[in-house]
Amino acid sequence: MMSFQADLLKYSECAEHWIKQHLAIEEVPEKRLYEAMQYSLLAGGKRLRPVLSLAVCDMLDGDREKVLPFACAIELIHTYSLIHDDLPCMDNDDFRRGKPTNHKVFGEAMAVLAGDALLNRAFELMLAETLQQDGFSEGRAKAALIIARAAGSSGMIAGQVVDMESENRQIPYELLCYMHARKTGAIIKASILAPAELLKASDNVKASLSQYAEKIGLAFQIKDDILDIEGSASVIGKPVGSDEKNNKSTFVTVLGLKKAKELLKTSIEQAVEALKPLKHTDFLIKTAAYIAERDK
Ligand code: IPE
Ligand code: IPE
Ligand code: MG
Ligand code: MG
Ligand code: MG
Repeated sequence: MMSFQADLLKYSECAEHWIKQHLAIEEVPEKRLYEAMQYSLLAGGKRLRPVLSLAVCDMLDGDREKVLPFACAIELIHTYSLIHDDLPCMDNDDFRRGKPTNHKVFGEAMAVLAGDALLNRAFELMLAETLQQDGFSEGRAKAALIIARAAGSSGMIAGQVVDMESENRQIPYELLCYMHARKTGAIIKASILAPAELLKASDNVKASLSQYAEKIGLAFQIKDDILDIEGSASVIGKPVGSDEKNNKSTFVTVLGLKKAKELLKTSIEQAVEALKPLKHTDFLIKTAAYIAERDK
């Protein structure tokens, strides 16, 4: 049996390869746009979201080629959200994925446009795929809808708005959970449920995966908040102390470091518990542990 690290690498390389094949720089007057898109996309993210999609695909014994366009579309959307999140009008951060942020290299206007282009490219890839006539069109359309909702005004963007409006004030715990479930949780959940939908998983399987996804999504952002304090900038590839600089409301500011760590642990336990009714969950169980233990 392969080790978790080897599997993680296998999945992330698979996504990386697909992305590189589908996003070449074009020799056109607007070439700089493609350079800006590639710059952030290939800067070395963890690829957690496509990794999750591919792991669900394997768990369901699905065809990886069917899932890859959706898995990678999610990574494009995620990358766009990071470019915009770093802008001076948002978190105003200078480093991302170990390199200067997109706007630092390409300027603010191009960074906004590169983000816009990545978002639209993601939908282009998913819709082109959906037109294939092989009995999976409906599943693909449903998968794309899951992803659209997760990224949109009731998902990630809702979370970013609450995040922004929670600066410089104390927010109740319930609102903090609402925010995290959206700004980070929604896209992580879509990474798990979109392939399940596409591959026609049963309602029971989808319900268990949904529970798992919600718990690891929450855990992922709690850990992100902790790493913003305890992490090492050179390892996480982005600045530490960004949340404090912006007077953000985070799990650490609302609960304190100790309670935040307890909740991280409980969320991971609940995620693992949710997988109990399912088979072939070894990788997903280890991913939950990895989310809590990661140092980047
Ligand atoms: C960072 O996401 C932003 C959050 C949603 C917390 P990741 O930690 O997955 O960043 P990359 O993709 O590895 O750069
Ligand atoms: C942003 O959360 C999540 C997104 C939707 C991009 P953070 O602002 O905490 O993400 P980092 O810490 O900059 O990666
Ligand atoms: Mg932010
Ligand atoms: Mg940020
Ligand atoms: Mg953060």
